[in-house]
Amino acid sequence: MQPTFPPYDLHPVMPHELAQPPYLASDDRARLDFSVVHAFLSTCYWSPGIPRYLVEKAAANSVAFGVYDLSAAAPVQVGYARVVTDYATFAYLADVFVLESHRGRGLSMLLMRCIQSHPDLQGLRRWLLMTRDAHGVYARCGFYPLANPGAAMEITRREIYLKGADAR
Ligand SMILES: CC(C)(COP(=O)(O)OP(=O)(O)OC[C@H]1O[C@@H](n2cnc3c(N)ncnc32)[C@H](O)[C@@H]1OP(=O)(O)O)[C@@H](O)C(=O)NCCC(=O)NCCS
Repeated sequence: MQPTFPPYDLHPVMPHELAQPPYLASDDRARLDFSVVHAFLSTCYWSPGIPRYLVEKAAANSVAFGVYDLSAAAPVQVGYARVVTDYATFAYLADVFVLESHRGRGLSMLLMRCIQSHPDLQGLRRWLLMTRDAHGVYARCGFYPLANPGAAMEITRREIYLKGADAR
């Protein structure tokens, strides 16, 4: 008889990490620096004005990844991405950034390799993402334009955080 809930292994104790010295990509939530993540996401083109509590709530309910510069005495967060997923069939990649002073060093590739090799994100039927102008980054990682854009629909409230709309 099939078990009602097949065995699965989510949130392993060991963090999933990839090193590219002096940088480290990691899913360790304890490393996240939300002052860095919020400073970027509240001023970028896709989530202007987003309040910090929503940045933290979104990370808490996603698989969140950071990129860290380990060359200083204390690690400094320089990149971020998160994956919204059911861990079984689908994942949505969101909020990808590398701070400007660390761009051009392959860190988005390090981040994407860390994400795509994550043990909880294997065997999914579909990955989605939205980007204004970074298609080339994701094309290097196997993403391609929607095969059937007419099949996709959305509800997007672009200025929700700027208009003082109640986001809760
Ligand atoms: C897009 C972004 C994450 C790239 O980070 P990065 O660490 O500088 O990228 P990398 O150094 O890993 O570049 C990897 C490759 O992608 C290319 N690339 C980098 N940014 C690119 C872009 N915006 N469009 C197309 N190709 C790009 C690089 O030329 C490099 O190619 P190469 O391997 O042939 O040399 C970074 O520029 C960023 O944070 N931008 C602002 C936020 C943003 O737009 N995020 C994406 C939202 S979907």
